[in-house]
Amino acid sequence: MKGIILAGGTGSRLHPLTKVTNKHLLPIYNKPMIYYPIETLRKAGIKEALIVSGKGHAGHFLELLGSGKNVGMDLFYDVQEEAGGIAQALKLAKGFAGDDDVAVILGDNIYTEEFDFTDFRGGARIYLKKVPDANRFGVASLDGSRVLMITEKPEVPMTNYAVTGLYLYDKNVFSICESLVPSKRGELEITDVNNTFIEQGKMQADFVKGFWSDAGTFDSLHRTCAYMYELANK
Ligand code: G1P
Repeated sequence: MKGIILAGGTGSRLHPLTKVTNKHLLPIYNKPMIYYPIETLRKAGIKEALIVSGKGHAGHFLELLGSGKNVGMDLFYDVQEEAGGIAQALKLAKGFAGDDDVAVILGDNIYTEEFDFTDFRGGARIYLKKVPDANRFGVASLDGSRVLMITEKPEVPMTNYAVTGLYLYDKNVFSICESLVPSKRGELEITDVNNTFIEQGKMQADFVKGFWSDAGTFDSLHRTCAYMYELANK
C-alpha cells in the first residue's frame, strides 16, 4: 500500500498565519504539522508516500523533508496547480499509485493511534470519530457500524460521527475521481468519492480509538497543540 498526503489548499481559515507559509508547515507543539500524518502512515507500515501541495510553498516541503530519509519514509512530491478540492488533488496521485491500494491522509489531520491497514481487502475504508461539532465535517449516517451515506458539513448533523481525514482505497478510486463534478463550493469532494463506494456496497467504516483532531482552524490548531504538549510532558 502507498501513502498519499494531501497538503494543498489556501489555509484561508488560518489567515494571517498562512499568508506566507503553508498551513501544514505551521507548528503543532514542537513539530511541523506535516510530521504527524507522515508519522501516522509510517507507523502503519507505509514505506513510500506522495505529498501533494499547492503551488505557493511547494519548495518548502522539499527543503524540510527532502528524500524522507530523516522521517523514515521515501517521499515524492507533486503540485496541485489550483485549489480544486481534495478529490482533485487525489487525481494527481494516479501514476504514483499504479495498481496499488492507497492510504490517503489529509495533512492537517492529527492522530495518535497506530493503525493496522493489513486487513484491507479492497473497496474503501473510512475512520469515524464521535465529536461535539459534527457540522464542521463530513458526517456519517449509520445503521450500526454500516455507513448509509455521508453528508458534507450538514447544518443539522444526523449523527455525531465525523468522517476523519484518513481513507483507504483500491485503485478504482481514480476512475471515481475522474467521474466527479464540482460541488456547490466549486470543489471535487472526497465525500462524493466515499458516497460512490457506499452506493457500490464497497465501503467499510472503522472508528478512531485514540485522539483525533483537524488543525485547520484557530481553535482546533490550539487544541491540538495543547494536547501534544500535555502528551509530551505527562
Ligand atoms: C475535509 C473533508 C471532510 C472531513 C474533514 C476532516 O474537510 O471534506 O469530509 O470531515 O476534511 O478534517 P475540510 O477540512 O477540507 O473542510
